[in-house]
Amino acid sequence: MSYTTVAHVTELNEDKPLAVDVNDDLSVALVLHHGRVYAIEDECSHGKVKLSDGDVEDSTIECYLHGSTFDLETGRPLNLPATTSVRVFPCRIEGEDVQIDVTTPTTDY
Ligand code: FES
Repeated sequence: MSYTTVAHVTELNEDKPLAVDVNDDLSVALVLHHGRVYAIEDECSHGKVKLSDGDVEDSTIECYLHGSTFDLETGRPLNLPATTSVRVFPCRIEGEDVQIDVTTPTTDY
């Protein structure tokens, strides 16, 4: 595992996704939900829109465009029209840093 700092803890607000560009090819939405931080790929698998613009509820994030919800833990879509999971990444707090491991995404395709 190789963790990279992507944000400061003070940037996180409960149920308010934070969009972070990790590198040229990857953006993630950091989500503080029920006291836990999740890192989920910030692009809906149905269309190229940001999941970070959607609402967080019941351990899911909803795509604002067509309403698919994705499990924050697994990245799995829970309703149509999306049928493919998005990647989720191990995430931890180290001191005041929010770190994710982009080398070991978890998917549930
Ligand atoms: S673009 Fe996300 S559900 Fe269609």
